[in-house]
Amino acid sequence: MKQTLWKGLLFLTGQVKTWTGLPGYCSFDFGSQTLLLDQSLTATLDFPPLQLYFGSEVTPPQPTDSRTAQLRWAGDFHWQILTGGQWPAEALQFVHAYLPYCFCSWIARREQRAISIAHFAQTLDGKIATETGYSRWIGNEENLKHAHRMRALCDAILIGRSTLDQDQPRLTVRHVSGPNPRRIVLGSRLADYSCLLDAALESVMVIGTEKRGAENLIEYCSLPCENDRLRGLPILQYLFQKGCQSVYIEGGTQTTSNFIKDRAVDILQLHLSPQIFGSGRPAFILPTIDKVEDAVQFTNFHYQTVGDTLMFVGQLPCDGSD
Ligand SMILES: NC(=O)c1ccc[n+]([C@@H]2O[C@H](COP(=O)([O-])OP(=O)(O)OC[C@H]3O[C@@H](n4cnc5c(N)ncnc54)[C@H](OP(=O)(O)O)[C@@H]3O)[C@@H](O)[C@H]2O)c1
Repeated sequence: MKQTLWKGLLFLTGQVKTWTGLPGYCSFDFGSQTLLLDQSLTATLDFPPLQLYFGSEVTPPQPTDSRTAQLRWAGDFHWQILTGGQWPAEALQFVHAYLPYCFCSWIARREQRAISIAHFAQTLDGKIATETGYSRWIGNEENLKHAHRMRALCDAILIGRSTLDQDQPRLTVRHVSGPNPRRIVLGSRLADYSCLLDAALESVMVIGTEKRGAENLIEYCSLPCENDRLRGLPILQYLFQKGCQSVYIEGGTQTTSNFIKDRAVDILQLHLSPQIFGSGRPAFILPTIDKVEDAVQFTNFHYQTVGDTLMFVGQLPCDGSD
């Protein structure tokens, strides 16, 4: 079942990317447009019809087919299930979980920057690796599939240079079907890129703070920095200019914390693994706060099931201001 739905979601993501004649954000905000997945998709899916409805003030039209599920876009990354029709609950949940990411390119065009989604698999005491930096695998099998789905839905995946050195990840989509994202490494020190040097070499980009020449034919770009640190929003704007409308940030601590510090994360996904290290590397290192109200606050959040455990998914205000 998931495979069929997954195919549909990939199709939808591609469609949204090519919606050049799409009305602007404003007309969509309170418009009364209904987007019906085209007939071929409905037929391929072998599921009852699914209507995606863009409008928050107008009552959606009564579907002619009573089996129809209706979902309404409620702004940014929120989709409300208006009616489940005759969709199996698990199928609807699956579509609902990934639908927001199918529309990243739409929001990116509005914001003129890449949309950023950060993900960690962490223990119950908030560790993403042991003291020695070992992190494979803190999450479960389904989380791995989830991460690969996200890679396929996003245009780029980004990691810090230390994660590259420590984990030597390939950063490709292997556990599900779908396109490989561009692979971006943040860092200025020399690193061992051998795990990325496959046939899709041109899909690798290193973004650092120092000017230097091409290294092993990998595209290298230096962006202006402050105190040897790149700021999150300019990175997202640069990625957008390079044709990446969404980026999946897969850590580690410094990289993701920097983006959060810069208010340059749209969505945070935290896979909660039912274990405690009692030592190890924390998921986040942020400036010290004195009061609880100074904590990083999520505007919208929920917990979703990932295999035998849960994932926290929350939205952050992403505006790059201090
Ligand atoms: N459990 C999980 O989900 C998960 C996921 C990913 C990683 N991990 C673990 O996380 C650990 C690594 O985390 P980490 O915090 O040590 O390192 P990291 O975030 O992977 O990499 C840090 C490096 O990235 C570069 N960098 C990051 N942000 C930058 C910015 N804003 N401007 C310029 N450069 C920037 C710098 O590279 P240069 O020093 O080259 O300038 C910095 O030293 C590993 O143990 C890994 O296994 C766990």
